[in-house]
Amino acid sequence: MTIDEWDLIASTRKSGDSLLFDTLYSGVAKAIQERCTSTSLIDYGCGCGDFCQLMAQLGYTTQGFDRSQESITIASEKYQSLPFYTDVEQLHRADIMCSNLVLCTLTNEEQIEAFREMKRLTTELYVISICHPCFDIDSQGVVSQREVPKNARYEDTFQYSKRLRDNLVMHDYHRPLSHYFSLFDKVGLQVTNLAESNTLDSGYKPDFITFVLEERT
Ligand SMILES: C[S@@+](CC[C@H](N)C(=O)[O-])C[C@H]1O[C@@H](n2cnc3c(N)ncnc32)[C@H](O)[C@@H]1O
Repeated sequence: MTIDEWDLIASTRKSGDSLLFDTLYSGVAKAIQERCTSTSLIDYGCGCGDFCQLMAQLGYTTQGFDRSQESITIASEKYQSLPFYTDVEQLHRADIMCSNLVLCTLTNEEQIEAFREMKRLTTELYVISICHPCFDIDSQGVVSQREVPKNARYEDTFQYSKRLRDNLVMHDYHRPLSHYFSLFDKVGLQVTNLAESNTLDSGYKPDFITFVLEERT
C-alpha cells in the first residue's frame, strides 16, 4: 500500500479500532513486560498512536514513527504529550522496538529497509506483530473479512484484501511463517518468544501473531 493510501485510511479511522486493544495490544504489552525491565520504546509504523498511548500509561517513554503524515497529525492531536515523527532521523535510540501490523503490509525490499532502520535505533528487544499467516487466508477474521486470490496456497506469497468493520479496504501480503524466520535470520535477529494474541468470544482463530526477537548471539 502507498503512503497516500495510509493517509486516507488514517483520516477515515481517526478513532482507531478498539478491538485491537482486546486482541493484540494487551498481549504485546504483556510480552514486553515479561521480557525486560527497560522502559524506552519506539513504535515503528505507529498509525494514530493508540499503542504508544497504552504503553505510556504503563510507564514507558514512547516515541511514535510513521511515514504517513496524516497518521502522525492525528496521533499528535489525540495524544498531545507524546512525541510522534514522520522523519526517522528525529527518533532517539530506545531499548525496545515495537512494530504492529506493519511488516505484513510491506514488500520484501521494504521489510529489509525497515529492519535496517529499526536495528540502528534499538538496543535490546524487538517485538513485531503481523497478521497471522496461518489464518489470514480464512475469509472471516475477528477484525476484518478477507478476500484471497483464487487458488491461493498457504505456502505462496500473495496480496489479499481486508475489509474492516467500517467497510474500509486494506491490502496485506500473505507470506508463510518460514518467510519471517528467514527474514529475521537475514537481518541478524533470533526469535526468543512468541506472543499469542487474544481471540474474542465471537471467534476461534487469532488474527495476529507476535514475535519477540533479540540480536543473534
Ligand atoms: C496496518 S497499519 C498499523 C498501524 C498501527 N501500528 C496499529 O497497530 O494500528 C500500518 C501502518 O504502517 C505505516 N507504514 C507503512 N509503510 C511504512 C514504512 N515503510 N515505514 C513506516 N511506517 C509505515 C502506515 O502508514 C500505517 O500507519
